[in-house]
Amino acid sequence: MYLFKRAADLREALGQEKKAGRRIGFAPTMGALHQGHISLIQAAKAQSDIVVASIFVNPTQFNDPKDFEKYPSTIQQDILLLTAAGADYLFLPSVAEMYPEGVNGSHPHYDFGYIESVLEGASRPGHFQGVGIIVHKLLDAVEPDDLFMGQKDFQQCMIIKRLLEITGSKATLFICPTLREPDGLAMSSRNMRLTPEQRVTAVEISRTLQWVKDNLADRPFPELRAEGLARLEKAGFVPDYLQLASGSDLRLLEAPENGPMAILVAARLGDIRLIDNMTAGR
Ligand code: PAF
Repeated sequence: MYLFKRAADLREALGQEKKAGRRIGFAPTMGALHQGHISLIQAAKAQSDIVVASIFVNPTQFNDPKDFEKYPSTIQQDILLLTAAGADYLFLPSVAEMYPEGVNGSHPHYDFGYIESVLEGASRPGHFQGVGIIVHKLLDAVEPDDLFMGQKDFQQCMIIKRLLEITGSKATLFICPTLREPDGLAMSSRNMRLTPEQRVTAVEISRTLQWVKDNLADRPFPELRAEGLARLEKAGFVPDYLQLASGSDLRLLEAPENGPMAILVAARLGDIRLIDNMTAGR
């Protein structure tokens, strides 16, 4: 696996690959890799000729500076995992490389519309603008044919779909299923920060989602939401939201509708904020 720290050098190397007619697959990450990330690499290997991963903990998408400071970093192990998974290129830029204008410099503003105003957008002001800024820069550096992201960040996937339209990128977005621990906890880099006791409690988030999903056809959603939130609180979470939404446009729903839907949850355990979702309907 080749490692590049400068966008210009990566662009040059990938330019050669493209000239040779190879299809470029790209999985952007913030490191602290787990099997969920590796499944993105595997999906990229199946779809594309060349697999590029990036690791960059993006300061502009953290609305909480403490969350940024405490974000886990396991670079040595990440490199081993990516190599074993068969990634061809790793882009590992510095903050100065990605933000020559300065982190607090002037950045574009993206019109993501409604999808930026709810759920994670409402709870984490500026978060999706930060995601847009960095993914736009990464797309410029890699110019992928295929882009691989995890369904665990359901709303982020919708934002990225919109970003691809806004920026005129020709990349095809592949949304890969959430990987779960044997007890059901969605894999997440933030799980590394859970204490053993918190780790035991954390499973309640996926259990609650599954319980809502199992009861969706039989009980009014507002009742399920209230009970689900109470269940999370009882387990020791400070819940942020538990919502049912249209899977196509993220409209919040008070009752199931025909078509794809998602049940989405965010809750805090100590200072660690976890999110998860499950799809429902068709
Ligand atoms: O999902 C993530 O890890 C990040 O939000 C991303 C897409 C790499 C942008 O920093």
